[in-house]
Amino acid sequence: MRFAFVLTSAALIGSAFVTSATAQDTGESLYMDACASCHGAAGMGAGPLAEYMTADVPNLTQLSQRNDGVFPMLDVIQTIDGRTGIRGHGSEMPVWGRQFKAETIDDAGIYGSEVYARGKILSLAYYLESIQED
Ligand code: HEC
Repeated sequence: MRFAFVLTSAALIGSAFVTSATAQDTGESLYMDACASCHGAAGMGAGPLAEYMTADVPNLTQLSQRNDGVFPMLDVIQTIDGRTGIRGHGSEMPVWGRQFKAETIDDAGIYGSEVYARGKILSLAYYLESIQED
């Protein structure tokens, strides 16, 4: 009986957790896992790996400020993805689009893993938008 109660409670807590996992929470935890090592936990640019980069690691809380007060959503998405457009060769930023896709390709197939990778990139971009300084 008590065991059933524990199981039910665990299921309830589990579902509460799932429903509260908004895009921003997802973006924040992805950020902490994949980005904070270089860009810093607060996005200010001084993570523990920053000193090993030959390029300066940019402060990610001033992207809007540097773009006339508008968050450059498309540029940010393409920069994080790294497979398209604006990022030149030789960037020190890992190519996250390729990496996120590779992580899931066995489970999700080519198409599914592309959707999954883009979802992660978009969650990250929304998270970065939420940490912009005024
Ligand atoms: C290994 C270090 C490293 C990691 C990890 C890293 N970055 Fe970067 N990032 C850089 C460097 C260095 C630059 C500067 C330009 C360049 O070399 O591409 C940069 C540039 C950027 C830019 C462009 C900023 C601007 O001023 O336009 C964005 C956005 C960005 N990173 C987001 C992320 C996100 C999101 C993650 C995690 C998924 C991440 N970075 C992980 C090193 C890193």
